[in-house]
Amino acid sequence: MSQVDQYAVFGSPIEHSKSPRIHKLFAEQTQQVMEYSAELVSAEQFTTAVKDFFAQGGCGLNCTVPLKELAWEYADSRTERAKLAKAVNTLALQGDGRILGDNTDGIGLVTDLQNNHEIALRQKKILILGAGGASRGIILPIMDQTPLSITIANRTVAKALTLAGEFSHKGKIHACGYEDLKKQSFDLILNATSASLSDELPPLATGLLAEQGSCYDLAYANKATAFVRWAREQQASKSLDGLGMLVEQAAEAFYLWRGIRPVTAPVIQMLEAERSI
Ligand code: ATR
Repeated sequence: MSQVDQYAVFGSPIEHSKSPRIHKLFAEQTQQVMEYSAELVSAEQFTTAVKDFFAQGGCGLNCTVPLKELAWEYADSRTERAKLAKAVNTLALQGDGRILGDNTDGIGLVTDLQNNHEIALRQKKILILGAGGASRGIILPIMDQTPLSITIANRTVAKALTLAGEFSHKGKIHACGYEDLKKQSFDLILNATSASLSDELPPLATGLLAEQGSCYDLAYANKATAFVRWAREQQASKSLDGLGMLVEQAAEAFYLWRGIRPVTAPVIQMLEAERSI
């Protein structure tokens, strides 16, 4: 068994993952002796790969596409936010040998919005585009910030209705199709669809963004996503993508594993400098 505490991110595809870089920077900054690697793991390989990882002395794992639901099932216990997200992006070995599952995506988004971009959520009208796993992961942490309302819009309206129903006991949440958004406006629009991955855009009407409103794409790329370009056309106060969220969710995982909270700003700045939006 290695002397150095081992961490990794599992996923498929994985070769472009920025997580090893981010955690290396965190470890240097906080003087933690640890190693973090990226491993190509398919859904079929997941259970065996996780068992082997922890059996060989691994301390913690991040799980990304397409493994977050499998990681949720694998965990022996789950945090409240992971329970409702029905997805886990962080597994942590506990002192008693059990594996805790957490979901740090939503808190990563909220931290990036509020701390890094001064976008308040309290008393704001928030629109979430998409009703898949990415949306599910962010709803509870957003609700915790007591927005005025949350609306989920989706191409397949039934999925939005089901998702909203799962959270309706926690706060004010509506569901609809894109057509139904006409004549409404929102302080913050969050793109949680997978449309950005194919440089597509959900069918968004103009006038959807309130004056001084901001837009945030949970996806990130080396150039502006279709949604970020749309946001700029709408003269959004801020048109952001998910690079900051990526670093903040990593910081939250790092904190869970190591008990130390890294400073994220220099890491975000470094990653921002490496791309030219
Ligand atoms: P993820 O886990 O990334 O959320 P998912 O569960 O497959 O992935 O969900 C993808 C989401 O993006 C869905 O809400 C999907 O809409 P449908 O449920 O109607 O399929 C949405 N989506 C994907 N491509 C889209 C596009 N081009 N326009 C609008 N919505 C899109």
